[in-house]
Amino acid sequence: MRTPILAANWKMHKTVGEAVAFAKAFVPLVAGVANAEIVVAPPFTALAAVGAALAGSNVKLAAQNAHFEKQGAFTGEVSPPMLADLGCAYAIVGHSERRALFGEPSELVAKKAAALLAHGIRPIVCVGETLDEREAGRTFAVLESQLDGSLASVDGGRAAEVVIAYEPVWAIGTGRTATPEIAQEAHAMIRSWLGKRFGGAAAQMRIQYGGSVKPDNTAQLMAQTDIDGALVGGASLEAESFAKIVAASA
Ligand code: PGA
Repeated sequence: MRTPILAANWKMHKTVGEAVAFAKAFVPLVAGVANAEIVVAPPFTALAAVGAALAGSNVKLAAQNAHFEKQGAFTGEVSPPMLADLGCAYAIVGHSERRALFGEPSELVAKKAAALLAHGIRPIVCVGETLDEREAGRTFAVLESQLDGSLASVDGGRAAEVVIAYEPVWAIGTGRTATPEIAQEAHAMIRSWLGKRFGGAAAQMRIQYGGSVKPDNTAQLMAQTDIDGALVGGASLEAESFAKIVAASA
């Protein structure tokens, strides 16, 4: 049995005050949830304060990115040990916005994923095709290439700690969610790739869907065999909305 994992990706939203206000409102709303893992990824600036506000709750802290080195002359970057120090349990890597807007290739994502695991942080590795790629019939080829590259450095013994997020780029922030069938087809392909790469661990690995997940489409998506959670952007910015998504999944 895979425990569902619901993660809030706030992207570049919320000041420290706004982030803490969310945490204070959200924690009591999900306090009774025992059968799902709940994760919030604030911007770096709010990690410490949100971490403190979540202390003792069933909500875990995540970062939205990480550098792969421990320390050094990397202006503007944040390292895995720094994130571990703040209590991050997870970190998102390879989000399509980082791939497209910041030119991050899968080889870089692989280094980040391996470095995070080495410091006890579980990576949430994002993959997903653009609309052009889907319309050209290249969805599976694109996913395969992103998985090959991004998971290249994950040791088989640690595979079960890695979470994959399937996020079709055409569904992110567009209000155009993948149908449960389209999402399941991609998730099944990803699970089969994971089986070839990691063997039996593939059955334990969680694959989240992301892209315009809302409280009213969560249950249908979660009902699919290979959908084990959601990575939620816009609908995670309000405590009640994200709590409804958690409730629909648990
Ligand atoms: P969205 O974003 O829910 O706003 O579509 C999802 C994501 O990019 O992780």
